[in-house]
Amino acid sequence: MPFAHITGWGMYVPEPVLTNNDIAKLIDTNDEWIRDHTGIRERHIARETEFPSTLAVEASLRALQVANLAPTELDLIICSTSSPEYIFPATACLIQDQIGATKAGAFDLLAACSGFIFATNMAAQAIRSGSIKNALVIGSETLSRFVDWKDRNTCILFGDGAGAFVLQASDKPGGVLSAVMHSDGSGSDSLTLLGGGSRHPATEQTLHEGKHFVQMDGKAVFRFATRVMGRAVQEALEPLGLTTNDVQWIIPHQANYRIIETAAKYLKMPLDKFVINVQNYGNTSTASIPIATVEAVEKGQLKSGDKTVFVGFGAGLTWGAMVVEWTGPIPATKHIHPKQYRLFARLRSIARRAIRYIEGFLSRKEL
Ligand code: UT7
Repeated sequence: MPFAHITGWGMYVPEPVLTNNDIAKLIDTNDEWIRDHTGIRERHIARETEFPSTLAVEASLRALQVANLAPTELDLIICSTSSPEYIFPATACLIQDQIGATKAGAFDLLAACSGFIFATNMAAQAIRSGSIKNALVIGSETLSRFVDWKDRNTCILFGDGAGAFVLQASDKPGGVLSAVMHSDGSGSDSLTLLGGGSRHPATEQTLHEGKHFVQMDGKAVFRFATRVMGRAVQEALEPLGLTTNDVQWIIPHQANYRIIETAAKYLKMPLDKFVINVQNYGNTSTASIPIATVEAVEKGQLKSGDKTVFVGFGAGLTWGAMVVEWTGPIPATKHIHPKQYRLFARLRSIARRAIRYIEGFLSRKEL
């Protein structure tokens, strides 16, 4: 049975930065309160011209560059997002088209902030089963579009960004070692975005009621998160016969510094074993784990052979953890430049649209 190794990683955040002081100009809050209660100092917010696919394409091309893999070699693309570009088509298909992943099946996965763990697990299982060789998993969010900038309970928390992993099959042991995924829909009302779906299709009334904004019972989510995070880490380690002493890094979902602190206490682990960057990005939802991972690699913290646990929680409610033996890129025999495929992808997309238009025109004539 092949192993599923993480051989590429990339992140992208939009340039514009919104500091706590900037938010304090909009609503009744202040830098000190936000830092004390969340650990967040600033977050990045997508420009009007940037969407989840825009951020995802940048992160994906960087991940493919690290993996030294051409987009045309990808078999599968999973985009985890709670702020998709549309209900359909899937954001993953837009990414597939823009990077020129000509043979990849692509779909979105919605498990909120736990989504990146769920998606990576799905891709790893497909590789482990032998049905595919190369997968791209992306977490991408522009939740700033769904935040009520008058609601101080939520607008201080979220930031935009994307992170991506390339997973590849190899006979060498390592890579994704285990994962647990959990859900509890009885807590579905703790964190919601109700408008625009088939229960509350967009109407003047849904707009008036603010149903198109994120709504959150912050305290309930906080209690839930602190209850499940530590336990999920232990659950993922147990089947491997490992304990937290065998783990070099925990990379948690970056929602709130205090939640991470509580998880560290529960696990009796020092906080310096946790990768934390919530101060710079806020909560980027499903993108937060890959973004933190990329930074940990780039800072030289996360190294080849390190046992790492990803752990996340979010709306649904959902939560999960994954144990990974960090691989690093597979040694290259030839050098691939995935960004060069972008131009090819654009031309291919235009050509296919033109063919579709001509086909439509000719079939109308035939009728
Ligand atoms: O990916 C999952 C996403 N969600 C989460 O992870 C959220 C988890 N929950 C949290 O992070 C925290 O519950 C919050 C950061 C949302 C809130 O922190 P808290 O310590 O639970 O604050 P609180 O809601 O209990 O509010 C304490 C006080 C209240 O005032 P009173 O009633 O004590 O006078 C609030 O009105 O702070 C007030 N408050 C604020 N003050 C200044 C609430 N939000 C703000 C604010 N600025 N932004």
